[in-house]
Amino acid sequence: MYKLKIITTTTRPGRKGPILAAWIAEIAKQYPDYHTEVIDLGELKLPLMDEPEHPRFRKYQHEHTKKWSATIDGADAFIFITAEYNYSMTAPVKNAIDYLFHEWADKPAAFVSYGGASGGTRAVQMLKQVLTTLKVVPVTEAVVLPFFAKMINDEGGFESNDGIDQSAHVMMKELLRWTLLLRAKKA
Ligand SMILES: Cc1cc2nc3c(=O)[nH]c(=O)nc-3n(C[C@H](O)[C@H](O)[C@H](O)COP(=O)(O)O)c2cc1C
Repeated sequence: MYKLKIITTTTRPGRKGPILAAWIAEIAKQYPDYHTEVIDLGELKLPLMDEPEHPRFRKYQHEHTKKWSATIDGADAFIFITAEYNYSMTAPVKNAIDYLFHEWADKPAAFVSYGGASGGTRAVQMLKQVLTTLKVVPVTEAVVLPFFAKMINDEGGFESNDGIDQSAHVMMKELLRWTLLLRAKKA
């Protein structure tokens, strides 16, 4: 079984990222090749990067970094729940990525993005630039949610539809295809 980590990218109180993470986690559970875990950066509470050494040396001094390193080391694939702040990825996700180096490499990442008219796509493009530097393989097929706020119901759940669910399955299948390809190479 492959370990799929779903990572939310916002930390503000009342953030909507975990709602979308819970939705895609339910869909991911339909894929028996994956063991799925949601990682909420708002709960993780990583400080701003405070390691003295470049992460490629893995000489981590802080417990929070050692734990984060073990979490990402243990992953086989990622889904980033990608919000867009000022046409960009959020600061917390860039910070969380920068903490580590080798842990990210040779693993595929898919994206569920959300926002206004852009559906968070500008943030995804920026995220891809950073992740590919760390040898993460971005999956093209994605879930894009423009004006997503209209799809959150009064109970705080995400109201999907057939088209969105279909895009989620297309993304999941492609993520799994890349997981099998990349993990086989590692073995
Ligand atoms: C600081 C900030 C900047 C934002 N910038 C954008 C933006 O550039 N594009 C966009 O579509 N939405 C933008 N939004 C609206 C977000 O899409 C919306 O608030 C969303 O809920 C943010 O994700 P979160 O709830 O997980 O924090 C911004 C929101 C915040 C708080």
